[in-house]
Amino acid sequence: MQHWDVVVIGAGAAGLMCAAQAAYRGRRVLLVDNAKKAGRKILISGGGRCNFTNINAQPQAYLCHNPHFVKSALTRYRAQDFIELVERHGLSFHEKTLGQLFCDESAQDLLDILLTELQYAGATLQLRTEILAVSTTDLGFVLTTSQGPLECDSLVVATGGLSMPKLGATPFGLKLAEQFGLNVYPTRAGLVPFTLHAHDKSRFEPLAGVSLDCLVSSESGHQFRENLLFTHRGLSGPAMLQISNYWWPGQALRINLLPDLDSHEWLKASARERARVSCKNLLNEQLPKRFVEVFLADFKDATTAIGQLPSEQRQQLALMLSEWLIKPNGNEGYRTAEVTLGGVDTDELSSKTMESKKVPGMYFIGEVVDVTGWLGGYNFQWAWSCGWAAGQAV
Ligand code: FDA
Repeated sequence: MQHWDVVVIGAGAAGLMCAAQAAYRGRRVLLVDNAKKAGRKILISGGGRCNFTNINAQPQAYLCHNPHFVKSALTRYRAQDFIELVERHGLSFHEKTLGQLFCDESAQDLLDILLTELQYAGATLQLRTEILAVSTTDLGFVLTTSQGPLECDSLVVATGGLSMPKLGATPFGLKLAEQFGLNVYPTRAGLVPFTLHAHDKSRFEPLAGVSLDCLVSSESGHQFRENLLFTHRGLSGPAMLQISNYWWPGQALRINLLPDLDSHEWLKASARERARVSCKNLLNEQLPKRFVEVFLADFKDATTAIGQLPSEQRQQLALMLSEWLIKPNGNEGYRTAEVTLGGVDTDELSSKTMESKKVPGMYFIGEVVDVTGWLGGYNFQWAWSCGWAAGQAV
C-alpha cells in the first residue's frame, strides 16, 4: 500500500494551495481528486476570468456561526500575499470594482500558477480518483479509493461545497466529518438567484435582461448596493446573489430603487419645480423604461403630472421607490449556486491550523467548512488563507 505523509482530498482552490505549502515544507504529499481536471471551479469562476481575491477581504465579509474563526487564517495569509504570489508568476490582472481582482486573460492562467507551484514544491497530483471511505489506524489513516488503498499520517479534507454537482461536488467531506463525530451545520445554497411566485414571475418575465442599480436589504438588516438583474426565471445579479446568503424562506427583500436620492424629497422638489412632468416620465429619467412600465402598472396615477398628484399618493410613490418589497418564492438551489452555506462546525477545528480537535491529524479546509464569503473574490481568499494555514501544519 502506498504511504504518504499527507493526503489532500480535493484539488480545488483550497487543496491546491495546501498541498503545495505542505510539500514546500518537505512533506511527501499526494493530492487526489475524483475529476479528470484539477480546479474546475477556478476555471468557470468570474465568467472565465476568476475573481481570485478581494483587496478588502475582512472577517466581516464572511458568514460563519463563529465570526471570529476566520481572523487567524485571513491575517496570516492575506489578499496581499496571494497577489504577491501571482505577481511573481507574471499574471496580469485588474481590479473590476469594489476591490475585486480578476485575471486580464483567463482563469486558466491562475490555475497554471497553482499547478506550477504544486510541481515546484514536489507534490503529486492524482486525478480520476474518488475517495470512497476513510478509517483510522495506529499509524494514521487508511483511504479506500477507486484506484486502490492509500495510507497517510495527515489527512486534509478539501472536498468543497455542494454547489454545481455536475462539476464533481460531493457531500463526501461532510459525511466524513459526521462519521468521525464532528458537528456539521445544515447546508443550503448561497450566492444564488431567487425564484418568484407565479404572479411576480409572469409580471417580471418581460423584463428579462433589464438590470438596475439598487440598495437591497434583508430582514436581518444586511444591505448591499449592487445591480439587480431580471431573468426569465426570477431575480439575479450581484445584489440578489449577495443578499441570498442572508435570506430565509418566507422573508421579504426591501429594495431601494433610487439609492442616491431621497425619493420623498426628490418627488416633492419635482412637484414644485417640474410640475407638468408625468410621474412615469419622471421615473423614466432614473430607471430603465421597461422596468417603469411594469413597476407602475398598478399605480393608477402613472400618467398624472407630478404637480397634480395629491400628497398622499406622492408619499405612496416615494415609498414604493425607496422600499419596494419583493417576497421570493425560493432560490435556484445548488444547480446554480456559487457556494454552500453551513458545513463543518468551526468549533471542531483549530482556527490556526484547521486541524480537528477530536481527530488529530485530520484537517478540514475550504468550502466544506462552515465559512462562506460574500460575492467578489472572498471565497477564493478564504480557500487560499485556510489552505495555506493547514499547509504549514500538516
Ligand atoms: P472546490 O469545490 O473548488 O474543490 C473541491 C474538489 O474536491 C473538487 O475538485 C471535487 O471534484 C473534489 N472532490 C469532492 N469529493 C471528492 C471525493 N469523494 N473524492 C475525490 N475528490 C473529491 N469564488 C470567488 O472567490 N470568486 C469567484 O469569481 C467565484 N466564482 C464562482 C463561480 C461559480 C459558477 C461557482 C460555482 C463558484 C464560484 N466561486 C467564486 C466560489 C469558489 O469557486 C469556491 O468557494 C471555491 O472553489 C471553494 O474551493 P474548495 O477548494 O473548498 O472546493
